[in-house]
Amino acid sequence: MSSVLPMDLLTYWNRYAEAPITVEESRERGFGWTQYDRHGPAEELLGQPETSLELGCGTGDMTAYLARKNVRAVGVDISPVQIEHCRQRWPQDGAEFVCSDVLTYLAGTTQKWDAIFSNWGALWFTDPRAWLEPVRDHLTDNGVLVFSCAPPVEGCYGAQGMYGNGFRGRVLPVQRWAYSPEMWEGVLRNVGFLEVYAKVLEAPEPDNLGTLIVQAWAR
Ligand SMILES: C[S@@+](CC[C@H](N)C(=O)[O-])C[C@H]1O[C@@H](n2cnc3c(N)ncnc32)[C@H](O)[C@@H]1O
Repeated sequence: MSSVLPMDLLTYWNRYAEAPITVEESRERGFGWTQYDRHGPAEELLGQPETSLELGCGTGDMTAYLARKNVRAVGVDISPVQIEHCRQRWPQDGAEFVCSDVLTYLAGTTQKWDAIFSNWGALWFTDPRAWLEPVRDHLTDNGVLVFSCAPPVEGCYGAQGMYGNGFRGRVLPVQRWAYSPEMWEGVLRNVGFLEVYAKVLEAPEPDNLGTLIVQAWAR
């Protein structure tokens, strides 16, 4: 198998960025953690932050939403196409959008945030061994980490591989990391997140896929 160039992953995420929902649709949806509209908890999982950092902010909708509520909100995404969309979509909202890999961004700043979050975002696609400590170290004393993603397929834990270009295009491995709520609790506690709530929120239709949501404090 050929090696993956970072450029291939960038192409993958730039392609993903091509069809964002409209600004009106986004405003109507508001803030959410699940793949279903107006389902489940909203920004209250973040507490009442004065500052927030979104890792893998995609369209920037959640970060712009927080900025409209007077949070000093920063969204980071590796895709220049996404960041350009963010800046065009939300020019007046006071949010800051940065184009960077999240680990590189965290390594380059001493700033701390009251809330760091990732909404089906970069933390899902990054090896937890690389992000756990940097994220913990960039939280303020009572700062909270929140992330959501798909629940694991039962029995399939750790790194999950998929082919980003399907089975006939240029080989493009993409990785995600999957753990059960109990496993996330252990993983997070091991690096000093002493208060952790992790669960799978059921879908609106009982047979449909739920959403894994994790909240953690290093206090
Ligand atoms: C599945 S999308 C979800 C984004 C957002 N929640 C949304 O709904 O638009 C994941 C996002 O993470 C970004 N991403 C993936 N890996 C990243 C990394 N290492 N650093 C920064 N952003 C990354 C991608 O560019 C993409 O915008």
